[in-house]
Amino acid sequence: MTQQDRTLPKSAAYELSEDTPSNPSIRHTLGDVVAARLGRRDFVKAALATTAMAALAPTAFRAAEAAAPSFSFTEIEHGVDQTHHVAPGYDADVLIRWGDPVAGDAPAFDPMNQTTDAQARQFGYNNDYIGFVGLPFGSDNPDHGLLCVNHEYTSAEVMFPNYDTDRTPDEARKIVDIEMAAHGGSVIEIRKDAAGKWQVMPNSKYARRITAKSPMTLSGPAAGHDRLKTSYDATGRICYGTLNNCAGGITPWGTYLMAEENFHGYFRNKDALENHPEKINYERYGVGGEWYIWGQFEDRFDLGKEPNEANKFGWVVEVDITDPSSTPVKRTALGRFKHEGAESIVNRDGRVVVYMGDDQRFDYLYKYVSNGRFDPNNRRANMTLLDDGTLFVAKFNDDGTLDWLPLVYGSGPLTDANGFSSQADVMIETRRAADLLEATPMDRPEDVQPNTVTNKVYVQLTNNSKREPDQINGPNPRAKNSFGQIVEITPGDGDDHGSAASTWDFLVICGDPNDPASGAKWNAAISANGWFGSPDNAATDYQGRLWITTDQGSNWPKTGTADGIWAMETEGDLRGAGRMFFRVPVGAEMCGPRFTPDDKTLFVAVQHPATDGVEDFPGFERESTFEDPATRWPDFSDAMPPRPSVVAITKKDGGTIGS
Ligand code: FEO
Ligand code: CA
Ligand code: CA
Repeated sequence: MTQQDRTLPKSAAYELSEDTPSNPSIRHTLGDVVAARLGRRDFVKAALATTAMAALAPTAFRAAEAAAPSFSFTEIEHGVDQTHHVAPGYDADVLIRWGDPVAGDAPAFDPMNQTTDAQARQFGYNNDYIGFVGLPFGSDNPDHGLLCVNHEYTSAEVMFPNYDTDRTPDEARKIVDIEMAAHGGSVIEIRKDAAGKWQVMPNSKYARRITAKSPMTLSGPAAGHDRLKTSYDATGRICYGTLNNCAGGITPWGTYLMAEENFHGYFRNKDALENHPEKINYERYGVGGEWYIWGQFEDRFDLGKEPNEANKFGWVVEVDITDPSSTPVKRTALGRFKHEGAESIVNRDGRVVVYMGDDQRFDYLYKYVSNGRFDPNNRRANMTLLDDGTLFVAKFNDDGTLDWLPLVYGSGPLTDANGFSSQADVMIETRRAADLLEATPMDRPEDVQPNTVTNKVYVQLTNNSKREPDQINGPNPRAKNSFGQIVEITPGDGDDHGSAASTWDFLVICGDPNDPASGAKWNAAISANGWFGSPDNAATDYQGRLWITTDQGSNWPKTGTADGIWAMETEGDLRGAGRMFFRVPVGAEMCGPRFTPDDKTLFVAVQHPATDGVEDFPGFERESTFEDPATRWPDFSDAMPPRPSVVAITKKDGGTIGS
């Protein structure tokens, strides 16, 4: 097999994909934008040029004199090197690495002799989302619980020895099988020991690996539809595995949501669909991306052989972690798109609202509102809340209001005349339905984080280098946006997440506050290292404070720092001021921030160390391989490749993180 028969380096594939918007309905609206608002607060004082937002000076939202910060840690500095850094006075301990045992009978990690069987019982690759659920179930125990961790994708070039050499089909198949086993998720039981250090509990009865082959079912409006039937599934209700699990969520009833993001890259042979009814559907998602060669070995990833298989992906998967033998369920009522995450909140009337971003340039922001109400005393009833409800897409107005438009078959343009014959069709082609509703094309919506203390919602918009000056709109105010922005949504009446009306504002517009051309907007008190670019994941601590992680990819030289996590003030005089808390090693991205219920531990996921942007790493300046990586974090042993790992951050004095 030749190199071309294998796979693109995934970092390159991702950036290529994200540079290629697949939304055909984006409008050019320069005239409207002249009158666009930039946000309430003092931000409206900013001079609004009639052309690009680059004309905006990096003015502050508001003066910050006499402001009292809620964070007291000493921030770390921007920079990039081979290891991680955390604020002084904190420990950052590696908890679990790619290849470490998950199942009690898993063998020790041997990178030179990887097998599918071992990988399927060991911690998977590229840890992303992290959820924490206290044990016993229903408790808020901050010292003992289950950690739910997504494994988004695999980075073959640094995973496998001699990757850049030719191999036989059998050898290639073996790599494909290991890749499938390294995808999905892990559930591990962890406990703080007497010294206050987190340990993975061996032989936990809750330990579980979910892979790209695990049996699953589909439920909700699309389940059972003909468009989900395949040669191995006449019911349209079963499938195997979950793909590209990026972020996710823990529901109020303690289940684990895994969001399927870039599922399109796993399928091949799109040319076989030239006259197929799914052609338009698949083009809207870029299905047939061929990032992986799995379709050479498994028919379901070959669109010519199983043309409906790709409709079984792009969903949110719900996992009942109380029973490791439970079958994960793909909840089709939450729509089909490149789901970044699925963070939920219980509305004031008991309905459950799940906020979700569709992470591609010019795609949309969504929320799902359940019809039923959360009942803390009836877990079984809660398990169907994600099957029956309404999915809405966001349309932002320049006057600071936001309309949530329902994606309901038969309403507005979502009719047979436009190719929708049922609610199943609307869910399977969520993006095309949202196009017809004229939702607002966004700068890549990543995590959408509701704050359960303040009821506000934070939308991380990571960047969009393809937005032209005549395509800017209210919440996406910059052309060629390399740095992203964070939009704050206030639900109707301040706390009604079920309402079809909301208001919006900017929290920050990212970029260098010292560079007028950046168009950045931060609090005037922003510190030297408190600014960042490409916000991606986010968490709120239990005091309601916001923490943001970044994913700059090969863009990192534009900020001069590796990715990391920043604490961000959202209330008071320091609103919009950041503080850098943690930094990842070169080539990595920062994922999965999750606090324990006492705010005394912050779990973070260091994803794909040694891969992204290492060509610009001074002194290295080449692509990483298994034999020659830009860093061997976290083991720093010549016998070990770099390993994506979860890190537990605690304060040396046992106090609250960031206190
Ligand atoms: Fe998987 Fe959009 O980050
Ligand atoms: Ca992400
Ligand atoms: Ca990411």
